[in-house]
Amino acid sequence: MSFPIILGTDISGVVEAAAEDVRDFAVGDEVFGMVRFPGMAESAAYAEYVAAPASHLALKPAGIDHAQAAGAPMAGLTAWQFLIELGHREANPLQPEEHRPVPLNGKKVLVNGAAGGVGHLAVQLAKWQGAHVIAVASGKHESFLRQLGADEFIDYTKSNPEDLAHDLDLVLDTLGGPTTGRFLRTLKRGGALFPVFLGFSDAEEAAKLGIAVSTTQVRSNGPQLAELGRLLEDGTVRVAIDSTFPLAGAREAHERAARGHIQGKIVLTVQ
Ligand SMILES: NC(=O)c1ccc[n+]([C@@H]2O[C@H](COP(=O)([O-])OP(=O)(O)OC[C@H]3O[C@@H](n4cnc5c(N)ncnc54)[C@H](OP(=O)(O)O)[C@@H]3O)[C@@H](O)[C@H]2O)c1
Repeated sequence: MSFPIILGTDISGVVEAAAEDVRDFAVGDEVFGMVRFPGMAESAAYAEYVAAPASHLALKPAGIDHAQAAGAPMAGLTAWQFLIELGHREANPLQPEEHRPVPLNGKKVLVNGAAGGVGHLAVQLAKWQGAHVIAVASGKHESFLRQLGADEFIDYTKSNPEDLAHDLDLVLDTLGGPTTGRFLRTLKRGGALFPVFLGFSDAEEAAKLGIAVSTTQVRSNGPQLAELGRLLEDGTVRVAIDSTFPLAGAREAHERAARGHIQGKIVLTVQ
């Protein structure tokens, strides 16, 4: 990787020019997407103009603005590829097996880190699929998450979710990391733990308890974004905006991110 690099993966904007072989988009179309991910700093999305493969884009839902659409791609595709459909056959860089979503209809699903980018979209997708959803976040997010459809709420600053939740079918732990194994005892035999971040190290206990543990790395996928776009258009799913900053304020946006407790997405806006 050669420095300096331009950060960012997610965009929403208007097509300024299209290559001759592009069939699905034309100049003037409003599009959104997660560009070239995973890649080594090739996305370069913190910019006024971004070059993107057409296969990584979808038409922006007309009923939402560019800030909401720009908040959707990485978090939405992560939730989609963990919960709904992987959507590709590329090797999984995080484990030998392909990640396989599990059926959600009528299932008890806990989402940890539920108010964040991935979490708040995962809550809504799990509800859309017919799951009973338990959202775990700090207390200030309770009414937000209940409005998004969460059936139960656990404030992790007051109680340990692993002490309260039980007989779950699935835990989507958007925090992941070395503490993710504490959720094993909340799951039924035959249940699944999906850590979104690396660090799970309790494989032996998971095997003993009969719980499948699986993770994956999100990949750019325009057709999946088009499906998510339909849910954004009809209001089944909405992107919450934690805060917006002008492009020139990217530093302040990162400082906001570093303070944590994000509700939805932080978006950079371009005049
Ligand atoms: N595997 C992949 O391909 C992939 C893709 C995208 C993201 N990720 C990873 O997924 C993670 C989440 O990403 P994100 O964009 O959703 O992050 P985010 O927007 O920063 O959200 C994190 C959320 O976690 C909550 N939180 C913090 N500590 C918590 C705790 N102890 N228990 C429960 N909730 C807690 C925060 O708010 P409160 O503390 O106020 O509740 C915040 O809402 C990151 O580590 C990211 O790197 C992985």
